[in-house]
Amino acid sequence: MSSPAKDSPVTTRDFLAMKSSGKKIVVVTAYDALFGRLVDEAGVDCVLVGDSVNQVLCGEPSTLSATLDQMIYHARAVRRGVGRALVVVDLPFLSYQVGREDAIRNAGRVMKETGAGAVKLEGGAAMAETVRALVEIGIPVMGHLGLTPQSVHALGGYRVQGRDEQAARRLESDAAALEAAGVFSIVLELVPASLAGSITAARAVPTIGIGAGPRCDGQVLVLPDLLGLNDAFAPKFLKRYASLADDVRGAVARYGDEVRRGVYPDAEHSF
Ligand code: KIV
Repeated sequence: MSSPAKDSPVTTRDFLAMKSSGKKIVVVTAYDALFGRLVDEAGVDCVLVGDSVNQVLCGEPSTLSATLDQMIYHARAVRRGVGRALVVVDLPFLSYQVGREDAIRNAGRVMKETGAGAVKLEGGAAMAETVRALVEIGIPVMGHLGLTPQSVHALGGYRVQGRDEQAARRLESDAAALEAAGVFSIVLELVPASLAGSITAARAVPTIGIGAGPRCDGQVLVLPDLLGLNDAFAPKFLKRYASLADDVRGAVARYGDEVRRGVYPDAEHSF
């Protein structure tokens, strides 16, 4: 993977430069220092501390119960592991929707306490004034449209968005409203590829797709999904680049077997 200037930290300005030069932006989630370091060493451009941590690592049914303290805890850990990639932190449900002052205080805490480079929030035109307020005080914001998991109950499940004409036009105008409000990029989740392509072409800021086809300016995947660690989750858009769940089960079963048979520890692994 190659990105802006080889070893200098990635900034939000680099996102815009990459769109202009046609370089795809590579984003993955991470939730701790260990995987933060590994994905950074693999050369990703951006590490997203997603509120998906609440489901993927904490076993909750949705992202709705994620808290600000939880996101700060994970983001601090990721930040310690990442040297070069841009670290973006999800603002959890109800940390930015109640009012602008609340959003500024909570996003400000994320920036002060984690050392991250930006926050992400969900929603379109309705969030534009909040985005503007954050950007005005120097907090870069990544938008998130399409399937917005914090609204899963209103959307009736984890399903593709923007399939009908009216919904497609709304997504287009939401993307325009976010860009006008100052976001530096927009995640498009579960959006038909042709619609994601036309939004990408119409916008100056890069789009980052997940289940949104190949014409987005970048892609994001949830790390345990792409590693095949979270093997219970198999949506159509997901490509697994490893089968680590099998490796984990196999390694732990072999360890258990050797302990039970008295094979481990042997002389080589004893003092
Ligand atoms: O929480 C998350 O991991 C996300 C990505 C799926 C975009 O928002």
